Formats: sequence, structure tokens, C-alpha cells
Amino acid sequence: MARKPFIAGNWKMNNTIQEGVTLVNALKAAKNKNNADIMVAPSFTAINAVANALKGTGFIVAAQDCYFEEKGAFTSQVSPSQIKEAGATAVILGHSERRALFGDTNEILNKKIAAALRHNLQVIYCVGETLAEREANKIETVITSQLVEGLKGYTAEELKTLVIAYEPVWAIGTGKTATPEQAEEVHALIRKVLTKILGADFANNIRILYGGSVKAENVDSIMAKENVDGVLVGGQALIAEKFTRIIDYE
Ligand code: 13P
Repeated sequence: MARKPFIAGNWKMNNTIQEGVTLVNALKAAKNKNNADIMVAPSFTAINAVANALKGTGFIVAAQDCYFEEKGAFTSQVSPSQIKEAGATAVILGHSERRALFGDTNEILNKKIAAALRHNLQVIYCVGETLAEREANKIETVITSQLVEGLKGYTAEELKTLVIAYEPVWAIGTGKTATPEQAEEVHALIRKVLTKILGADFANNIRILYGGSVKAENVDSIMAKENVDGVLVGGQALIAEKFTRIIDYE
């Protein structure tokens, strides 16, 4: 069965409101010849303006994180209903920068996923191993615990809009892309783990994105792999011509 491609840009802490609007206005020129879901994830501050600029285009606007509480004394945090009100319909959770720099654990992410699902936000849940974990042959252990602990307690039905992003930490922002074969191997592993915890139907239907130094020059060979359904792009998603070429991969 064919899974719909999903091409996503994570802007991280980049772009002013105006830069974000200019960027997405330029992206409207993409042909979207692969009939992909296209997503952009601006900073919280730019979500509203970017969502307004994209009204009627079908582009998905995502937040890069959200908190699991609804409201209250949680200085600096942003709730799912707040990002929804701003115009986001999706949220990236568990990005390795959130895990490494801001203490997001699988347990916290499990709660964030619950909060996002309660508000019908589409969740892009990121998993991936560090270089040390890869070299110690721990890929399977790490990915399995990220999936099992992060997704604990949910049914396949509750997770039907979920998207997984495999982002090996050693490939993020380093220019060192995983080879298409390395990506394919871990994507197949992710489907195997998901088959065990959520069933074969779920595992066959879920979209799994690769992220880590994706660029116009390597997207075609990555997208050619059977278990790769899309990409989550950092640096190159900030450049309109580059991201447009990635959207219209061959
Ligand atoms: P780069 O594409 O800059 O390596 O970033 C990948 C990423 O972390 C996307 O979420």
C-alpha cells in the first residue's frame, strides 16, 4: 500500500515573523508533483502569521514543541490549545535537541503526546540514536525504548495520525547524512517494533520520515527507499529554492 509522502521543514530557532512569511510565500511556487503532505514548523512567535499566509494552501503548520498541562503557573511553556489557537494543526515532539538540551525524556514525551492528541494535533514524534549509541551497537535498544515508552498507553486508533521521524543525532546539522541504506535499515526496524506494540496494520500504514542533513542533492536517493516516506529538514528548509526542490523530489 502506498503511503502519502510527507515533507517537513523544522525551522528551529530561526526566522523572524516577516522572514517566515516571505519564505512560505515563496514555497507556494512548489509544484508538489509527488502529492505530498507539506509541513513547516516555525517558532511559536511566527505560527500565527505563517498559518495566515498559508490559509487555503493545504500546507500543515506545526509547533516545534508543546507542554502537557492545559494552563497555569508554568512560566515560558505553551499549551496545545494555545498553539492550536495560533493556527498550528501539528506539533513536533521529542526532537533530539529537546531531548539533549531541554531534558525531554520518554516519560515527559508520553505526556506531551497525550496532551497533543487530546487537542487533535497531529504529532511528529522524533526518535534517533547518538553516535556513541550507534558505535556501541545500541540502536535497537535506544529506538525501541523511545517508541515503547513514548507511545505507552495509546491504541492504534488514537495514534492514527501519528508520524515518526527518525533523526540520527550524529547526522543533525553536521552535514553527515545517513546513507539511504542506513536510513532504510532503521526505518525497517521502527516498523518491526511498531508491529509488536501496535500491530501490523498500524506499522504498515504509519509514515516514517528521515531527518539529518537532508538537502536537494541527496533527497532523491533517500526518498527512493521503500520504508522512507518523507523527510524532516532543518537547515535546508530555511532556503526557499532548496526546500522547493526537496518538496519536488524526483
Ligand atoms: P538538519 O537538516 O539541519 O541536519 O536538521 C535536521 C533536523 O534536526 C530536523 O528536525
